Order: sequence, then C-alpha cells, then structure tokens
Amino acid sequence: MYICVCKAVTDKAIRQLVADGACSMRELKQCLGVGSQCGKCTSAAQEQLNRSLSEQMRIPCQVLEQRPAA
Ligand code: FES
Repeated sequence: MYICVCKAVTDKAIRQLVADGACSMRELKQCLGVGSQCGKCTSAAQEQLNRSLSEQMRIPCQVLEQRPAA
C-alpha cells in the first residue's frame, strides 16, 4: 500500500528501512523523501514507522532523545 503518493513510498519500503536501522521521521524523509512534497502523508508515515518499530520491538529515536542522561 502506498503511504506517500508523491514519492511512491510503500509501507513495505518503510518496513525495510526500519529493518535496516531507521527509527525516525527524519530518516524516512532523508532516505525515501516521505513528506517532502505535499506533506499529506506525514501522519500515515509516522503511524507506519511506529508500527514497524514495534514489530521489531524497537523504540522510536524521539523517545531515546527525550530520556534524561543517566
Ligand atoms: S503524499 Fe507524501 S509528500 Fe505528498
């Protein structure tokens, strides 16, 4: 299923990028161009990112960045 129509990015492409180590919307934008044109896909891409991370039992980068230093 297409998540970003402007850049022809599918849910499968996002899952693969997450499997390759991506964990933030910034990385999806840099690597796939998600949200870089009209921006209408941003929330769907964020949902797919979160779903892909949880499938792999990983934590979104934003959560890691917000943690206080130990
Ligand atoms: S649908 Fe993703 S930038 Fe337009």
